[in-house]
Amino acid sequence: MDFALIGGTGVENLSLADKTEITVDTPYGSVPLQTGKIGNVEMAFLRRHGSGHTVPPHRINYRGNIWALRELGVRKILATGAVGSISPEFRTGDIVLVDQFLDFTKNRPQTFFEGGEQGVLHVDVSDPYCPELRKNIISGAQTIGLDVKEGGVYVCTEGPRFETPAEIKMYNILGGHLVGMTGVPEVVLARELGLCYATMALVTNEAAGISKQPLTHSEVIATMNMLGATVAKLIESTCRFLKKEQSCYCLTGCTEAGLF
Ligand code: HPA
Repeated sequence: MDFALIGGTGVENLSLADKTEITVDTPYGSVPLQTGKIGNVEMAFLRRHGSGHTVPPHRINYRGNIWALRELGVRKILATGAVGSISPEFRTGDIVLVDQFLDFTKNRPQTFFEGGEQGVLHVDVSDPYCPELRKNIISGAQTIGLDVKEGGVYVCTEGPRFETPAEIKMYNILGGHLVGMTGVPEVVLARELGLCYATMALVTNEAAGISKQPLTHSEVIATMNMLGATVAKLIESTCRFLKKEQSCYCLTGCTEAGLF
């Protein structure tokens, strides 16, 4: 199994052909996921928030999830994530291939390398989202005549609450474009294990204070319901461009530590 999809909010009911439910045991607990096919491509499919959207962002087993995918042999991960827009460049309904992040999480294990026997790794995240995978998604989008936006700074908050307007103003001043609750440490952990990883950020709402209305999770879900079919098509189309070989620098993520 070379490829995986991590489905965020609203991308939880993707239908795989030849679907099998499995559980992978990891040092961080058991991880339930599905395997199957999208088109002709074998994929692992992991619902980030669990089945029935029962796991909030701060309680997701990020380490278990990424470890489980690697255990299956996965080398490349496509991910989706719902985001609010901080910047007028990005509108509700946009799909954005983010290329940088700002991390404002507070209380999440951020690494596989906890010292001692596991060693210490200061992983490079100069280019956190795989440039090759992002190209594959762009090719997938072009094939179906879909416009995706290239580049954007993803701000990750701890959640599960939405932000205050003052926080959103601060993130904007700092250069953030989009805000979500689940992108970090997922992207970092993938890099630590030498996996390619790219996120399709799905803009579900204007962030707090930009929108005049109070934010609700049902607003996020309503936009996702609108975007769901398009995202499924984009994933299917992207799968046709995926290559097993890793020809990018993502592979070297953990070589400095020389472990795992
Ligand atoms: N803030 C944080 N996370 C989100 C948002 C938001 O506005 N929309 C979707 N996920």
